[in-house]
This record gives sequence, structure tokens and C-alpha cells, in this order.
Amino acid sequence: MIEIRQFGWPDHEAVVGLWASAGRDVVPRDELAAKLQRDPQLFLVAVADQTVVGVVLGTYDGRRGWILRLAVDPTRRRQGIASGLIGELEARFAALDCPRVNLLVLPEDTGALRFWQALGYLPCPDVLCSKPMTTPEIRIT
Ligand SMILES: CC(C)(COP(=O)(O)OP(=O)(O)OC[C@H]1O[C@@H](n2cnc3c(N)ncnc32)[C@H](O)[C@@H]1OP(=O)(O)O)[C@@H](O)C(=O)NCCC(=O)NCCS
Repeated sequence: MIEIRQFGWPDHEAVVGLWASAGRDVVPRDELAAKLQRDPQLFLVAVADQTVVGVVLGTYDGRRGWILRLAVDPTRRRQGIASGLIGELEARFAALDCPRVNLLVLPEDTGALRFWQALGYLPCPDVLCSKPMTTPEIRIT
């Protein structure tokens, strides 16, 4: 029996382990704390026998939902755990009247692409552009 519920700080160590075992970047603790101030109900874990076996981090900016850092314990894959997490997250996006959900997948990650396509997430031609928001150096002359 898999329980899907909101993340709590006692889950943190297990979640970090899942992200690391899936080769995903670990979200810094202060970023998670800030996220939990905004929409904690979109940060979900899957639990089996009191062990965290899956995680997904959703965000909603008022216009689009984003799905980040989905990972399932490598020994528990192909058991519907990720599908269960995404199903619950989609229900929570719907409760916020979120009209569209986006996510990013590396093009060479064929397993993940097949997973997302099985759930109806289709590739778009858009190109991601990104810029770090570091403070520019100011020169006073
Ligand atoms: C991708 C991932 C989250 C899938 O988790 P999962 O719990 O095994 O997925 P599910 O059991 O819910 O799979 C549902 C369906 O998706 C498809 N699917 C899932 N993984 C697949 C794979 N590796 N190859 C092909 N199809 C796959 C299948 O259609 C599957 O149904 P089936 O098992 O009845 O054939 C998991 O493999 C993982 O953690 N990978 C490493 C991290 C990662 O890639 N995250 C996503 C990055 S965008």
C-alpha cells in the first residue's frame, strides 16, 4: 500500500537520498523552506511501509504549474508510484484552477520521456532560455 501525502521535514533526508540516487540535483534546504511558505501542498512524497519511495516537487506561479524533481526509488520502479504522485499533484493543481502544467526532460532521457508521454505530457518546440539572477557589479566612476 502506497500513501501519497505532503512533504514534511522528517522526510528531508530520505528525499535528498532519492534525488541523489536518481541523479537529480538536490534542492538546497533554504529553497525548500521558501517553497513551503508558498504552496506546501504541491510538494509530495510517496510512502511505503513508513519509507519514502518517491518524491515530486510542484510549483504554481498563478499562470502555469511546473513539475520538478520527480524521482522514485530505483528498486520500486514500474509499480505505478510516479503515476500516483503525478495523479495527486494534478488533482492539487486542478484545485488551484491551474490551466496548464509544464516540465523539462533531457532529450536523451528516453525512459522519462516515455513515462511523461504515457501520462499525456507531450514535447513542445520551445527552447528553454535561462539567466542567473546574480547582482551585477556596479562601477561608479
Ligand atoms: C521516470 C520515473 C520517475 C518513473 O517512475 P515509475 O514509478 O517507475 O513510473 P510508473 O511505474 O508510474 O510508470 C508508468 C508508465 O510510464 C512508462 N514508463 C515508466 N518508466 C519507463 C521507462 N523507464 N521506460 C519506458 N516507459 C516507462 C510506462 O508506460 C509505465 O507503465 P507500465 O509500467 O505499465 O509499462 C523513474 O524511472 C525515475 O525516478 N527515474 C529517474 C529520475 C527521472 O528520470 N525523473 C524524471 C525526470 S523529468
